[in-house]
Amino acid sequence: MGFHLKYRVLVSDPLAEEGIDILRATCDVDVRTDLSEEQLIDVIGDYDAILVRSGTEVTAPVIEAGTRLKFIGRAGAGVDNIDTEAATRRGIPVANAPSGNTMAATEHTMAMMLSLARNIPQATASLKKKEWKRSKFMGVELNEKTLGIVGLGRIGREIAKRAIAMDMKIAGYDPFITKENAAQMGVELMEVDDLVKVSDFITVHTPLTPETRHLINAERVATMKDGVRLINCARGGIIDEQAMYDGLVSGKIAGAALDVFESEPPFESPLLTLDTVIVTPHLGASTVEAQKNVAVSVAKQCLAVFAGEPAKYA
Ligand code: NAD
Ligand code: MLT
Repeated sequence: MGFHLKYRVLVSDPLAEEGIDILRATCDVDVRTDLSEEQLIDVIGDYDAILVRSGTEVTAPVIEAGTRLKFIGRAGAGVDNIDTEAATRRGIPVANAPSGNTMAATEHTMAMMLSLARNIPQATASLKKKEWKRSKFMGVELNEKTLGIVGLGRIGREIAKRAIAMDMKIAGYDPFITKENAAQMGVELMEVDDLVKVSDFITVHTPLTPETRHLINAERVATMKDGVRLINCARGGIIDEQAMYDGLVSGKIAGAALDVFESEPPFESPLLTLDTVIVTPHLGASTVEAQKNVAVSVAKQCLAVFAGEPAKYA
């Protein structure tokens, strides 16, 4: 960069001001949300970096058109919306902010599990229609129930801590951690086929990969306890939505709490027609604190890369 030129950064999804302010101190920053892929391809050649959340698809054609691109930043955990292979081919670092929203996603999952157990969204909707149906919304307790946690990473282990404090027993499945490590967290590690059989509630916290896609499928649903409750605040598709729908309709599954879907927004999903399903529109990371954390993290990583240092999330 010549001394008189500033790096140009495109922010193509809503990003917390704290992150934008960090960039503006030394860079020219354009915030342009809702660009189509064609529009993005048209403008990306003017920028040294692009920062996104989950809304922008940073596809191979976008990356190819980004002839000046030096950095792609994802203000959040999952980089599923970025073609990382195309970025690697061009030698462009892709950085995320995986820990900034851990507590937000953890607390959202706990809120979903409690809401599911006590039918809070359904009861709210009912009372607002001026109904007073106390027996219809009989709930269940978490106390002494078994929670199956699939994926014991940042979020999975924070869920374990909180569920243990509520006197739940924890079954865990994660092929990348040891039984000893799980035991230190108060989690009994087991194979997924065993976890689905012993759990009253099952929550998934893995990335979506070829191995985790439909990890919870019809065969595994069939072996679950009658009246099991499922929670997905990780990525749509880890639980097979058709299998979940069939299990809910048959009554095998008593309820499901979903923040993420195989296709988002899930307006055509039959799951939205079921009273036993409670939903939020991918709000797991949507707290003031988390959005500040992830925006600041990617902004700092962007500046580090401009300064010739490696991107390293804080
Ligand atoms: P993480 O990488 O810290 O943990 C993921 C865990 O999954 C790891 O321990 C890993 O060993 C395990 N895992 C990988 N493959 C597995 C497999 N085949 N079977 C079982 N376990 C497997 O990730 P995290 O920060 O805890 O995030 C978990 C998920 O939550 C991710 O999908 C992330 O994108 C998602 N997320 C969603 C929201 C939201 O808004 N709803 C917010 C933050 C994170
Ligand atoms: C993530 O991967 O961090 C979450 O899904 C939240 C987001 O959309 O940023």
